[in-house]
Amino acid sequence: MRIAIIADIHGNLEACDAVLDHIGHQDVSGIFSLGDNVGYGPDPERVIERLKTRSVRSVLGNHEMALNRESFISWFNPMAQKAVLYTRAHLSETSLKEIRSYPKSLVFRGMRFVHGAPPASPFLYLFQISDDKLVRCLRRLNERICFAGHTHDLHIVTDDGRDLLREPLPLGDTVLSREFRYVINAGSVGQPRDGDKRAKYLIFDTETYTLSVRAVDYDRRTTAAKIRSAGLPDQYADRLL
Ligand SMILES: [Fe+2]
Repeated sequence: MRIAIIADIHGNLEACDAVLDHIGHQDVSGIFSLGDNVGYGPDPERVIERLKTRSVRSVLGNHEMALNRESFISWFNPMAQKAVLYTRAHLSETSLKEIRSYPKSLVFRGMRFVHGAPPASPFLYLFQISDDKLVRCLRRLNERICFAGHTHDLHIVTDDGRDLLREPLPLGDTVLSREFRYVINAGSVGQPRDGDKRAKYLIFDTETYTLSVRAVDYDRRTTAAKIRSAGLPDQYADRLL
């Protein structure tokens, strides 16, 4: 079985459409989102609609958390707070209800899906957790593979039973070991910070244990122009170009 994993779309409709279209040609039986489907970007409503149309199962990101609970907005810097307020004002009641239904983690056939860090944190970054603590956490889980978003970067954390290795995750195919435990940082669809402006997503084949990192080009200029004309902070547009 092959599944697709997407993360951190951040209201970027052009990137979302390009990735969903690409996934449409990949013979996958399910799509999982690691959260932050909205926030920063100009098209939160249409992104949520697209995910629903494609039956994407999503976990809760910190940006969705801020929509659900007023008190979480204070965790964001002033620029991000502006984006949260814009996002809330541009979502329908139906989409807000959908977002409120996102769980903090999902488990599917021996794989775990979270936004920030296992077991189920939407706001902790993997790099904030010490090696010892992460190893203890991974060995308590029933699942050997955990997919996480939040950093907008591509990383693979391997627990080989002796050491914990934290390495960049390259584009293309990586064959995993069934003996090891992993946390895989899936990069970002709509606001990548891995040095490559293209939208990233993953495909995992549960039979061959092959993880594929895909990069998809899209019309970044259109998204950047929409961010500026929506009055969202320029930095979110600059980062795309
Ligand atoms: Fe994010």
